[in-house]
Amino acid sequence: MKKISVGILGATGSVGQRFIELLSSHPYFELAELGASEKSAGKKYSNAVNWIMQTPLPENIGNLIVKECVPDFHSKIIFSGLDASVAGEIETQFAEAGYFIISNARNHRFDPDVPLLIPEINYDHLSLLRSQKYKGGIVTNPNCSTIGLAMSLKPLHDNFGLESVNVVTMQAVSGAGYPGISSMDILDNVVPFIFGEEEKLETEPAKILGKFNNDRIELADFRISAQCNRVPVIDGHTECVQVKLKTKPTIEEIKKVWREFRSKPQELNLPSAPISPIHYYEEDKYPQAKIHRNLERGMGVAIGRLRECSLFDYKFVILSHNTIRGAVGGTILIAELMHAEGYF
Ligand SMILES: NC(=O)c1ccc[n+]([C@@H]2O[C@H](COP(=O)([O-])OP(=O)(O)OC[C@H]3O[C@@H](n4cnc5c(N)ncnc54)[C@H](OP(=O)(O)O)[C@@H]3O)[C@@H](O)[C@H]2O)c1
Repeated sequence: MKKISVGILGATGSVGQRFIELLSSHPYFELAELGASEKSAGKKYSNAVNWIMQTPLPENIGNLIVKECVPDFHSKIIFSGLDASVAGEIETQFAEAGYFIISNARNHRFDPDVPLLIPEINYDHLSLLRSQKYKGGIVTNPNCSTIGLAMSLKPLHDNFGLESVNVVTMQAVSGAGYPGISSMDILDNVVPFIFGEEEKLETEPAKILGKFNNDRIELADFRISAQCNRVPVIDGHTECVQVKLKTKPTIEEIKKVWREFRSKPQELNLPSAPISPIHYYEEDKYPQAKIHRNLERGMGVAIGRLRECSLFDYKFVILSHNTIRGAVGGTILIAELMHAEGYF
């Protein structure tokens, strides 16, 4: 198959670098163009970036000249890891000019005609693209904590109905971008506030688990309360979750629906799809960021500690890789789904 040329906006950031790492040997996509701010544009990528990935920067990518983020790319498929302060406007300009933008930024997530997509959960929302006002289109990826949470909730909502959810997160420092939070602020510490994060966790799952009805999404009607903390872990968000369900199942029934959960990406055998999106661990000490973040090449969600809750019905712990499943890997999976569904 002839590879499809793609570009990255925000290529020098931590999300942008992860895109380069995951796209450099992708079976469908050929990484051809990189964009960043004016301060990086015109430089060789290897000179513009402070490379922080654990794999070496591929030489051919390091030699690319960074472009400004204006819609004169020749690739029609563009991944965005732009800073949210500029992503909204730049992504709109690209979509108006006929590009497909698949974005990690928050700006367009709640536009009524923009899918907020997790391919295993709401692949059908992709049809919203057909009613978009753009010559091209915009699809967004949810917040990095929302993705792990929504994956754990989907089988529960489908089988038992969600009534309310309480979640407390312990989020890795890579979620704050590079250089992110200073070492003096995070080492030996827990910071009980992440700007805008609780609002995202409290609103995004309702759109993702909502029903696609003709040309709009009907929001799911359960309530969520969230508290978010930054902790001194490099990669991997841990979340302690309590759920109240419409019909109370047994513990074994919940484990079964998690373990058996499969969806469109698995049916289509998409290259970035995990074989099992959810892995349940029986050991009391699991899941752990250091041990499980790279599960299924970073695309799996690890769950453990399911037990009765005296306030809600059940409580459990989830762990997912915030820059792979929660950002770049999830975005690439969206592009693979769009390709399989004939959007390009
Ligand atoms: N980190 C995560 O785990 C994570 C997870 C999910 C979603 N996200 C979202 O993904 C996006 C990127 O996050 P990040 O952590 O990679 O941030 P980051 O490390 O701060 O990188 C931001 C990128 O945006 C570029 N940029 C900044 N101002 C620009 C401008 N005026 N014009 C063009 N490019 C500009 C930067 O280029 P220069 O280097 O040239 O300044 C850099 O490439 C954010 O919207 C974030 O909320 C992040």
